[in-house]
Amino acid sequence: MEGERRPLLEVRNIVKRFGGLVAVNRVSMEVYPGEVVGLLGDNGAGKSTLIKVISGVYRPDEGQIFFEGREVRITSPMDAIRLGIETIYQDLALAENLNVYSNIFLGREKLKKLFNLIPVLDHEYMMQESRKVLDRLGIEIPSLRNKIKTLSGGQRQSVAISRSIYWNAKLLIMDEPTAALGVTEQRKVLNLVKTLSAQGVAIIIISHQLYDVFQVAHRLVVLRRGEKVGERLTHETNPDEIVSLMVGAELVEGGRRG
Ligand SMILES: Nc1ncnc2c1ncn2[C@@H]1O[C@H](COP(=O)(O)OP(=O)(O)OP(=O)(O)O)[C@@H](O)[C@H]1O
Ligand SMILES: [Mg+2]
Repeated sequence: MEGERRPLLEVRNIVKRFGGLVAVNRVSMEVYPGEVVGLLGDNGAGKSTLIKVISGVYRPDEGQIFFEGREVRITSPMDAIRLGIETIYQDLALAENLNVYSNIFLGREKLKKLFNLIPVLDHEYMMQESRKVLDRLGIEIPSLRNKIKTLSGGQRQSVAISRSIYWNAKLLIMDEPTAALGVTEQRKVLNLVKTLSAQGVAIIIISHQLYDVFQVAHRLVVLRRGEKVGERLTHETNPDEIVSLMVGAELVEGGRRG
């Protein structure tokens, strides 16, 4: 179907400056529904700045953003969330002292009326709905009444992702999702990325762990000093080539069509 090939997100010639420093310099990229795009680059390359422009944390100095084919102005994180763009940062923004389902419904709590009169939290509903989304994503958390602070890093990551998915994220942006995790948990988060992709959610993943990105991404975009220096289908490249792009070594572009 023609419509299926339309990018979910397209950014065109995005520029973001901090004073005299050009953190992102005329970067364009697309993300298709269900596609996993790895955003790569050395420290300071502009990865986080670019995704903060997409998620409404920063306003771009130049450039355009299109979402589902329409030009959009994303002036705050709420604008992004309303469009279906959810971003998971390393700090995750979970409430440590609340349980799992309360975090999934944080700020969007479900109320019910007691005696048709008094609004109270509908714990049953929130718990059942949370269980549904966790099951759908294959996430195992024994009790949804457990406080976030009792969970492991990977479980927290999963709760944060579940929250985005429950609220209908179409594009999930993850900045270094596996950095603080153990090996087993890293694998679980990567599996979750694959599950989401299979369910049609588009994902932009930033990671310094090339191995992780190669496992899950369909396409790789490489930034260096704020500029996009390369874009490859994952199955048409290899870590050596990507590292060369990241650090700027001279590279003979053999085997790639023009
Ligand atoms: N709020 C800010 N104010 C001033 N300069 C900034 C700000 N945020 C980022 N920068 C600068 O912009 C450039 C890009 O930074 P950015 O955080 O986007 O890089 P990154 O690719 O995410 O790096 P890392 O892999 O280390 O997270 C860097 O030179 C950085 O110092
Ligand atoms: Mg960063």
